[in-house]
Amino acid sequence: MKFNETVIKRLRQAETIVFFTGAGISQESGIPTFRDGAKSLWKDFDPDIYASVNGFDNDPSKVWQWYAERRQQVRVLEPNRAHFIIADWQHKAPHVTVITQNIDGFHQRAGSQNVIELHGSIARNQCRKNGHRFPHDFDHPTQQPPNCPECNSLLRPDVVWFGENLPEEAYSQAEMKSFNCDVLVSIGCSMEVFPAASLPYNAARCGAYLIQINTQATDLDTVAECNFQGKASEVLSALWCAVWNSDVEA
Ligand code: OAD
Repeated sequence: MKFNETVIKRLRQAETIVFFTGAGISQESGIPTFRDGAKSLWKDFDPDIYASVNGFDNDPSKVWQWYAERRQQVRVLEPNRAHFIIADWQHKAPHVTVITQNIDGFHQRAGSQNVIELHGSIARNQCRKNGHRFPHDFDHPTQQPPNCPECNSLLRPDVVWFGENLPEEAYSQAEMKSFNCDVLVSIGCSMEVFPAASLPYNAARCGAYLIQINTQATDLDTVAECNFQGKASEVLSALWCAVWNSDVEA
């Protein structure tokens, strides 16, 4: 894979980099995406049922069991090369931030630190009534949503559902990072879900150099300086070599 000089230079010289990731980065680990491809989740499962408060209130067990399958997937599958390269980037360069829309925890498992999770985490539950939060007990999965030990209301996965606000602190941190980065690399995001998808646009407005890695075109194509059409792990591996291999001149 060939890269132009500017992209290598900008990545080498950047003081602050944001990696902004979506479901596409975990696709190569075997986690289905939401919108692209025949096996994507929202093709087979109605988000009004499985990703909304109303859906949960109408049938808590159904939603809980659907998430139990997703939790099992996350448990048996592994982060892939793309997650590991981003973790290595954080160790190699100063001020590299990971902002993700994913709930699978794969960035952390690959070794990334201070990951900003915009859509929550499948590894936690929160109670329906008061938002008390607890780690999910992966070793003792239940068929029914358990009751909150604090207030007895039902526990639900601590993920952001349609119509809900993003976690305030995570989003404000993410906004600050997007306003103040030199380079933002968007990876595997369809750019269809806001406000998360506004972050790359923020960065571009503030003068950051925008790189996009995706197997398909998105609305960000016209704004990004560089669009790499390909799989996250392949493009990131090639970028890593080009940026950190001192034989490659830029
Ligand atoms: P989507 O499923 O909407 O989009 C995944 C994107 O990844 C698409 O643009 C694909 O072309 C791309 N893609 C697929 N495989 C790839 C690969 N191997 N390498 C690179 N790119 C690849 O996922 P998101 O944009 O993350 O929210 O979706 C955003 C939010 O919508 C999710 O966080 C979730 C969903 O509803 C909530 O559940 C709140």
